[in-house]
Amino acid sequence: MILRVSALVALLAVAGLGCRQDMHDQPKYKPYRQSEFFTDGRAMRPLVAGTVAQGTLRDDTALFTGKSGGDFVTEIPLAVTADLLERGRSEFQVFCSPCHGRTGKGDGMIVQRGFKRPTSYHVDRLRQTPVGYFFDVITNGYGAMSDYAAQVPVEDRWAIVAYLRTLQLSQYAPAADVPADRKAELEASLQALDAHEAAGEGH
Ligand code: HEC
Repeated sequence: MILRVSALVALLAVAGLGCRQDMHDQPKYKPYRQSEFFTDGRAMRPLVAGTVAQGTLRDDTALFTGKSGGDFVTEIPLAVTADLLERGRSEFQVFCSPCHGRTGKGDGMIVQRGFKRPTSYHVDRLRQTPVGYFFDVITNGYGAMSDYAAQVPVEDRWAIVAYLRTLQLSQYAPAADVPADRKAELEASLQALDAHEAAGEGH
């Protein structure tokens, strides 16, 4: 039995060899080899114009550029879920807060150490800016700020944009949005704040 198995293995090995030999001998070019046939002398050919590698066809312009028909999109082209916001928060704190600060006021540690101070996210202009603009700034940079296209993948960029909107809302949430049963808490904290500021005035 053992003999028969080894004979079979040997037979298969020879058969395999034969097959491999055919492939070896066929005329073909190898990468970086020279070619007599093509006028540029290279075996490797340039890609046909418009070639796209599998899985990299970025045909959803809103998702990949933040623009649609040349205008910045006004809606985030992903489902905005609690998970996306959570992701946005952690990515914002890693990549943006060192300059923009945790609340987006533009007072991060790098700025405190002398880097150009960015505009606060809470000015009217940036509160009214469409979300596509923020995506574009992260993707392409803006003035003194370099781009984060290499560090932050597309979906994370949108997560950051969603979180950035949350930050903006956090500074301008209307009192009417506070649920009725928690209004008293709001009043109390506002009074505490007033008292704190009044006490601080003498300094
Ligand atoms: C190294 C510091 C630094 C980091 C990190 C940084 N920024 Fe900025 N950002 C700046 C500065 C400085 C400006 C203003 C540039 C100028 O005016 O030349 C700016 C401008 C911007 C603007 C444009 C504001 C306007 O006035 O139109 C946006 C939006 C923005 N940053 C978002 C982000 C986001 C989102 C991240 C994280 C992915 C980030 N930035 C990371 C420094 C930084």
